[in-house]
Amino acid sequence: LNIAVLISGSGTNLQTIIDGCKNNEINGKIKIVISNNKEAYGLTRAKNNNIKAVYEKDETKIIELLKKENIDLIVLAGYLKIVTKNFVNEFKNKIINIHPSLIPSFCGKGYYGEIVHQKVLEYGVKITGATVHFVDEGADTGPVIIQKSVIVKDNDTLETLKKRVLHVEHEILKEAVKLFCDKKLKLKGRRVFINE
Ligand code: GRF
Repeated sequence: LNIAVLISGSGTNLQTIIDGCKNNEINGKIKIVISNNKEAYGLTRAKNNNIKAVYEKDETKIIELLKKENIDLIVLAGYLKIVTKNFVNEFKNKIINIHPSLIPSFCGKGYYGEIVHQKVLEYGVKITGATVHFVDEGADTGPVIIQKSVIVKDNDTLETLKKRVLHVEHEILKEAVKLFCDKKLKLKGRRVFINE
């Protein structure tokens, strides 16, 4: 399948998908990487792998770019922008997002990146984790595809917790993209079933 990855930052989640396609774990090809941040290191990762890398902030132009590439799956990987209803409707059930918490905790408007881990530590929960979900018109509200938990340690700092969660993000994002490309994800209402 033709994959597009939307980023805003370092692109470590993007790198995971690049590697997964290269070693054939993922039955797909990344056709384009689009960032709303010109400085995103993820654009360099794309270029280093001969993948079309585009800086574009205008969502209408992004939709055009995606249509031109006949994209089957859009992955929001550290994309720090809420996509519009129009965008969601253009690519119904073809957009997935990785979020660094166990949705519906610590998510929604304003909960992204390090802020999530800060809130987790402040609140004092003992278990956090990461979630891959389909994107609907809400913020982090779409049907959950995969979740994996991460224990919060007493001596955790923002950095140590962030690092441990990021590792789990990579793991479940690769798995979710693999399952999507293998057409093993079935959506029934809000529940996602995996057809092994
Ligand atoms: C990270 O904070 C991650 O939790 C979230 O997006 C941020 C950047 O990830 N998903 P990446 O390294 O750009 O993939």
